[in-house]
Amino acid sequence: MFAITGITGQVGGEVARNLLAAHQAVRGVVRDVSKCKEWMDRGCEVVSGDINNAESLIAAFKDVEGAFVLVPPTFDPSPDFREALTVAASLTTAFAAARPRRVVYLSTIGAQATHSNLLTQHTIIEEALQKLPTAITFLRPGWFMENSSWDVGPAKSGSIQSFLQPLDKPVPMVATADIGRVAAELLQELCEGHRVVELEGPRRVTPNEIASTFAKLLGHAVRIEAVPRSEWERLFESQGMKNPEPRIRMLDGFNEGWIEFAGGEAGSRKGNVSIATVLRTLIERN
Ligand SMILES: NC(=O)c1ccc[n+]([C@@H]2O[C@H](COP(=O)([O-])OP(=O)(O)OC[C@H]3O[C@@H](n4cnc5c(N)ncnc54)[C@H](OP(=O)(O)O)[C@@H]3O)[C@@H](O)[C@H]2O)c1
Repeated sequence: MFAITGITGQVGGEVARNLLAAHQAVRGVVRDVSKCKEWMDRGCEVVSGDINNAESLIAAFKDVEGAFVLVPPTFDPSPDFREALTVAASLTTAFAAARPRRVVYLSTIGAQATHSNLLTQHTIIEEALQKLPTAITFLRPGWFMENSSWDVGPAKSGSIQSFLQPLDKPVPMVATADIGRVAAELLQELCEGHRVVELEGPRRVTPNEIASTFAKLLGHAVRIEAVPRSEWERLFESQGMKNPEPRIRMLDGFNEGWIEFAGGEAGSRKGNVSIATVLRTLIERN
């Protein structure tokens, strides 16, 4: 039995689909069991669990071969990252009590970065989990190609904007299909202790290439422009963010190159799914 958190989301859903295809038993750990009829129909057990509630996770992670752990994204964290500290405490309590045989924790590229930024939330949780004897794989994927879902509408209108810049700088990106496939493989591998697996797509992608790929798929020109850094704070605040600094610093980290894999491009595992495949799917879904 494999316990999967985030099964109603992008990566968790892919992990579950891959495990079911490999004829493994899957237990979805969800906040709202009534949202999971689709997964029950596919033969999954579905139990209630909240990432912030250790008691619920202890029950969910009992008697499993492996657990896939995904922390829901917090884009506007408190300045002291208290949300991540809460999750770190609930996960360490749950793993120590439930003792899953192994864990794959979905972390991020740049979890080892020393500058504070949005991804520091994963740094905090990784550091807490590293103190446990549980066998844990820290899966660190690059920028999700699916982040371009926000660009589909603007691309159809002929122009997209980018916070990743300069526009000709290749960015380590990866499709959630590749992350889910690799996570399912790692869950089924026997392993001891702690390890880090860094994952990106078949090759790095520039923002310019995202625009030109949209243009090819949509059959019309798609312009791209860089949003000036001086406008980010005001823009994010106007969108309702209370503490935009961590998000701004994360974007700086990608643009300045200090958010990178610990092993660089040479050391990362490579997926198969191209940006064109992901953008085609996003357009079809839109
Ligand atoms: N986007 C990127 O470029 C990128 C890059 C590297 C790493 N990451 C990491 O990837 C993760 C996001 O993955 P994703 O895109 O697959 O997420 P997602 O599609 O947004 O799904 C989030 C999942 O978390 C569940 N969830 C929300 N609150 C919860 C709670 N309190 N307790 C338990 N489950 C809860 C949601 O379920 P319900 O809402 O249905 O309850 C949903 O299944 C984040 O940790 C992010 O830092 C993202």
